[in-house]
Amino acid sequence: MIQSSTVPRRYIPQLIVVSLVVYTCVYIYLDTFLCFTMRSSRRRRDNTRYVSITNASQVSEMLATQAEQERHYTPTTVITRTPITEEATQYPPPQDVSILLDNPNICRRSASQLQYIVYVHSSPQNAERRLLLRSTWLNASLYGGPNAMAKVFLLGRSGLKSVNEQVKVEAKTYGDILQGDFVDTYRNLTLKALMGLKWLSVHCPGVKFALKADDDTFVNIFRLLDELKAHDRQKKLILCPLWADNAMPILRDPTSCRKWCVKNDEFPGRSSYPRYCAGLAFVLTGDLIPMLHNYSRITPFFWIDDVYVTGLLPIKVAGIRYVNLVKKVGYYKERFTDDWINRRKSFTSLFIHIKKPDTYLRLWKWLLQFNNNITLPATDLLI
Ligand SMILES: *[C@@H]1O[C@H](CO)[C@@H](O)[C@H](O)[C@H]1NC(C)=O
Ligand SMILES: *[C@@H]1O[C@H](CO)[C@@H](O)[C@H](O)[C@H]1NC(C)=O
Ligand SMILES: *[C@@H]1O[C@H](CO)[C@@H](O)[C@H](O)[C@H]1NC(C)=O
Ligand SMILES: *[C@@H]1O[C@H](CO)[C@@H](O)[C@H](O)[C@H]1NC(C)=O
Ligand SMILES: *[C@@H]1O[C@H](CO)[C@@H](O)[C@H](O)[C@H]1NC(C)=O
Repeated sequence: MIQSSTVPRRYIPQLIVVSLVVYTCVYIYLDTFLCFTMRSSRRRRDNTRYVSITNASQVSEMLATQAEQERHYTPTTVITRTPITEEATQYPPPQDVSILLDNPNICRRSASQLQYIVYVHSSPQNAERRLLLRSTWLNASLYGGPNAMAKVFLLGRSGLKSVNEQVKVEAKTYGDILQGDFVDTYRNLTLKALMGLKWLSVHCPGVKFALKADDDTFVNIFRLLDELKAHDRQKKLILCPLWADNAMPILRDPTSCRKWCVKNDEFPGRSSYPRYCAGLAFVLTGDLIPMLHNYSRITPFFWIDDVYVTGLLPIKVAGIRYVNLVKKVGYYKERFTDDWINRRKSFTSLFIHIKKPDTYLRLWKWLLQFNNNITLPATDLLI
């Protein structure tokens, strides 16, 4: 037999050295890649201020922003130990989730054509988050676009009756709630995403762009609108922070995958995901919405909604293109955002994860002043 496929023993030390070098390079690359903008070289060495990455499971966790989603999508009253195999491998996914709360007029405009619809994945108990969003970057009248931009929050059902009652009142007050008849859990997020695509196809035909965001994503709406103007009239386009084909490992190891465990019969035969967008925010051209929804009927279900909607469904759309916004995404820790505000640095990121409401608000106020020369009176402070 030919021996060439086995490595001679004397090369093993060299192999180890090479592996270590490769590992280190990948580590450094990822570190700079994720924490790039707005860091001085001095700060680059100060890991405590930024998200520091030490192993592959942390990388995928952070990039997929699942830790964040988990925080918001695990209502305490709901049993989250879903029996994965039967339900999660349904083919195709459950279609036509019934709607509990709706407002079919959200996209309706009398004179002008609606250009943008923002749909935000939220969950029933996050009423305060939604208030924060309505008073910040989702308040289109603050930047002169109430007729050009509409918004809708996508919710499932809470296990708590009182929460569902509050949601009803909120829907009546603001008219921007779409609630589906499914339990609002992490593993039901694809149901939420498909409910959104279907609703948008029916109620917002002809819209130019649809922006999906999570309710803890801060969107630099001024920059985003500029970016979208550059893609006006383009078709079959997804703009997002994009992870390349095979860049993101599928977490299957039960000792380290924690809440993000993917079973062997989910996504069988792959150890990493195809190309897909980080779900904190992405933009679809309007023409894609009905197409993507249509193809969910022939695409096997997968519960991670980012992967499903921006990775699996687009594969079926001929001529689809991605614009990678990865260099424009920020993953900031609160303190860094504060530093940034205090230093009056110019703000170039499009999407940022921000948990603390007061940081969110302060950044917004600063941004508003920076872009529109609008100063909100102190009484507008929510907190
Ligand atoms: C990855 O790092 C995190 C935090 O440092 C740690 O809790 C976890 O156990 C590590 N996982 C592996 C597989 O080493
Ligand atoms: C949105 O902005 C307008 C104009 O400043 C303001 O009148 C309105 O109260 C704001 N809405 C919310 C929900 O903050
Ligand atoms: C949603 O998730 C819950 C718990 O994770 C599960 O019991 C339920 O079957 C899922 N689907 C729907 C439609 O609620
Ligand atoms: C929907 O999918 C079918 C194939 O399943 C295809 O023939 C049809 O053109 C699609 N329609 C849209 C609007 O994408
Ligand atoms: C912003 O407002 C200040 C004072 O109201 C004014 O002096 C300044 O020129 C304005 N800047 C811009 C860019 O409009």
